[in-house]
Amino acid sequence: MALSLILIVVSLLASLPLLYSLLYRLRFKLPPGPRPLPVVGNLYDIKPVRFRCFAEWADRYGPVISVWFGSTLNVVVSSTALAKEVLKEHDQQLADRHRSRSAAKFSRDGQDLIWADYGPHYVKVRKVCTLELFTPKRLEGLRPIREDEVTAMVESVYRDCSDSGSAEKSLQVKKYLGAVAFNNITRLAFGKRFVDSEGVMDAQGLEFKAIVSNGLKLGASLSMAEHIEWLRWMFPLEEGAFAQHGARRDRLTQAIMEEHTEARKKSGDTKQHFVDALLTLKEKYDLSEDTIIGLLWDMITAGMDTTAISSEWAMAEIIKHPRVQQKLHEEMDRVIGFERVMIESDFSSLHYLQCVVKESLRLHPPTPLMLPHRSNANVKISGYDVPKGSNVHVNVWAVARDPAVWKDPLEFRPERFMEEDVDMKGHDFRLLPFGAGRRVCPGAQLGINLVTSMLGHLLHHFQWSPPEGVKPEEIDMSENPGLVTYMRTPVMATATPRLPSHLYKRVAAEM
Ligand code: HEM
Repeated sequence: MALSLILIVVSLLASLPLLYSLLYRLRFKLPPGPRPLPVVGNLYDIKPVRFRCFAEWADRYGPVISVWFGSTLNVVVSSTALAKEVLKEHDQQLADRHRSRSAAKFSRDGQDLIWADYGPHYVKVRKVCTLELFTPKRLEGLRPIREDEVTAMVESVYRDCSDSGSAEKSLQVKKYLGAVAFNNITRLAFGKRFVDSEGVMDAQGLEFKAIVSNGLKLGASLSMAEHIEWLRWMFPLEEGAFAQHGARRDRLTQAIMEEHTEARKKSGDTKQHFVDALLTLKEKYDLSEDTIIGLLWDMITAGMDTTAISSEWAMAEIIKHPRVQQKLHEEMDRVIGFERVMIESDFSSLHYLQCVVKESLRLHPPTPLMLPHRSNANVKISGYDVPKGSNVHVNVWAVARDPAVWKDPLEFRPERFMEEDVDMKGHDFRLLPFGAGRRVCPGAQLGINLVTSMLGHLLHHFQWSPPEGVKPEEIDMSENPGLVTYMRTPVMATATPRLPSHLYKRVAAEM
């Protein structure tokens, strides 16, 4: 008798989530989508490269779809018109963030910018970004770092491709782009170069790298229960490991902050780096130490991989299209010539280079689903309900390949932007590599400058070809799964110098 009572109670409890989800679906007119299974939703149907899978589902079900990650509703939009509805018309109601348990731990429950919900804290920190960190004046002040790092990259490619016996040796392009992105963003955020001129990383750099990889490991350790709220109690977080990780990250950042405070006291002048800026703005904006540390690490998370990935895809497209490479060379030889290296003030005269960057970000946005937003109210998108608490994704990858708004959308043809100048910083909803609206990427201009500079230097200094025996059309253009989209097969190429040898030296900037 007692056993059957227990069984009844257990089955009632087990059916509660199912009942809840049935009622939920009856109460709201949700967007169509693949049929979800009880408990797991569509988790087992989603293919690893998510944005491609969602684009296939959009072809089948329409431009707004429901995808269930366990018990969490995710609404994915894949058209220009609906991207505008999400990022412009309902911008404010859809500007919260979904924080997984690890994101919540890393960000101390949204004390930073990336993981903060939309509200007074977010508005304040965003203001710090717009009015203080990413101003044209500060970005100009940090230009010597960017020029230092791209010339260091050129020097290292030159060294590797001119090694005796290595004329035909192919190089892994990502290795060089990753190093520029790493040095640029760590110098911008922390105000120091962790790697010396011989390429040796110091103790803080090694600690920094260890923290980043530990963070990735912890983030990846979360189980399926992350998506099924009522199962989470069975899979508790490794509280100790997260606390240790946070403490380690704080220790390193605090040590760097102290070095800057000491240096400022001694010299009396404030540097342009974000760490100095944030420390001197602490009182003015009432920033807690958690927020300063969170913001510095946000720049690393958001700025490092995105720029390296964007540049690698662009290089792959250029190597795949010798015609484009030739046009780039012609433009650079005309504008810059053979007697000096490229500088950022050349950008405005390098129209074709700018179009190549844009065309590459159109076909290969490094965050194809942006970062997920979360609704803070019940909203209607295209006549469907998006209940409060749902996650909303814009498939900017699919939008930028939509044949309804792009001619020959799959073709890599930079000239399309010579014919029509399309904004890519959030004003034209056909092209959204940086998102749009309240949460648009605050580092967009910096990102564009970095990618343009890396490509410009690599192209001006070298002629690039696929490795011996590989035809351009054989380059693998498929993607790795993940929130950011690396190439599945890192692009390999041979580099042949094309300028006088004295132009391959690093122009170091001590700052
Ligand atoms: C090509 C390079 C880059 C691309 C394509 C890119 C793209 C994006 C996208 C799509 C978002 C999400 C927008 C949304 O949630 O609606 C974002 C957010 C963000 N990006 Fe970038 N980004 C790039 C470079 C950078 C750089 C260099 C930095 C800073 C050093 C940066 C800092 C940020 C931050 C802090 C956020 C969070 C904004 C928020 O939540 O309000 N990004 N970025």
